[in-house]
Amino acid sequence: MAANPNDAALPRSELDPTRRIPPASADDIQVLADQAADILKEALAAALEPANRKILRKWNLKEVAELLGVSRKTLERGIDDGKLPDGERVATGRRLFTLEEVHRIQGILGLLPTRDPATDRPIVVAVANFKGGVAKTSTSIHLGQYLALRGYRTLMIDADAQGSLTTLFGLRPDADVDGRHTLSPWLRGPDLVDDPADWTGTLATAIQPTYWHGLDLIAANLQLYGAEFAISARRANEQNFRFWTVLKDGIQTVSANYDVIVIDTPPSLSFLTTNAIYAADGIIMPVPPAMMDFASSVSFFQLLSELLASTNQVEATPKRFDFLGLLVSKFEPKNGAHIAIHDWLRAAFAKRVLVNTMGMSTVVRVGADIKTAYEIDRYDGDRRTLARAIEYLNGVNGEIEAVIRAQWPSKQAPGRRGVLA
Ligand SMILES: Nc1ncnc2c1ncn2[C@@H]1O[C@H](COP(=O)(O)OP(=O)(O)O)[C@@H](O)[C@H]1O
Ligand SMILES: [Mg+2]
Repeated sequence: MAANPNDAALPRSELDPTRRIPPASADDIQVLADQAADILKEALAAALEPANRKILRKWNLKEVAELLGVSRKTLERGIDDGKLPDGERVATGRRLFTLEEVHRIQGILGLLPTRDPATDRPIVVAVANFKGGVAKTSTSIHLGQYLALRGYRTLMIDADAQGSLTTLFGLRPDADVDGRHTLSPWLRGPDLVDDPADWTGTLATAIQPTYWHGLDLIAANLQLYGAEFAISARRANEQNFRFWTVLKDGIQTVSANYDVIVIDTPPSLSFLTTNAIYAADGIIMPVPPAMMDFASSVSFFQLLSELLASTNQVEATPKRFDFLGLLVSKFEPKNGAHIAIHDWLRAAFAKRVLVNTMGMSTVVRVGADIKTAYEIDRYDGDRRTLARAIEYLNGVNGEIEAVIRAQWPSKQAPGRRGVLA
């Protein structure tokens, strides 16, 4: 038999003709799960070292001026007059400001963008697509951080039992997140919580602050899978149980404290996704420019319309979204196939496709140190790469911000209309 020229490059074990991928019983899988969980725990602990807790970067005077759209002079004068917080002076003589200080400066200068509680509703945005890997979590986290950076009071809800969003906040879903800090107790309801004390009748007890000032989190862990079954059980057992409004009702217990609530959803049409979609005022659907993703976006809308057709039969007022937009994610502007599919998407969904695309970027593919583009202050690579990523993100997030603000009567200059309206 002629030797395969590639054989030499392969390790011996791979050539062993008796080698089999091992079978697995339920017990084996349990052992596997435990082993893998231990290794994952170590990997995450290593990634989150040395502080083991994430600490947010600070911003210098120039950055604060840009962020708030004021001149450095204005800030310097305010600091000299003792009207504005003076930040921390570092060795180079520069001043650095925490996000809390940035927000304080914003407040003193009357530049906070928060909604007017008398006229403006809090806006719930669900980032949804039944497919995995399309950039839902990535879109969610950057949107939440962008809004918090701008001074909006923002709540992020991780509705995916996998807890990827939670991990980006530096929390290990299994080790650092108490079930009470997830949606689980609320979704289970008073009769199905594990411990009666877990039922508080509000989502307020599920919220935790994060290291981002003004950005709160309802985390996720594997308990959310159980909550999925609980909703199914409640549907069978509770009279007139509207299984699609549970999360919406929960959000109503806390939404007065926020301007925007961003929900990251799981990649499936589960009860939880249904709830997230039903709770949403607006939907942003990330779609990478690939044929399969285009195809699945079509089935997303088919399933969504079936879902709403059935809920609308029961609800007194039919469900309406204030906006439903598609975000072309993972876009390579020089890739011919991407450009072609971008065109198809626009042909199919017209003005629903956001004008800004989220470009492919190594900065956004967050690595083991789990930092988002908005969190990086010292970038090891080419600074232009980071600047480009931020440019993409600000484009996308700024467009979504404008759509959100278009819902608030107090922010309307006469004659102005929302981007997706
Ligand atoms: N703009 C981008 N550039 C490069 N990688 C990206 C970009 N957006 C997302 N990714 C990567 O794609 C993968 C899937 O993204 P994620 O947000 O987790 O998707 P989902 O939540 O839909 O499953 C992740 O590894 C993420 O880092
Ligand atoms: Mg995700």
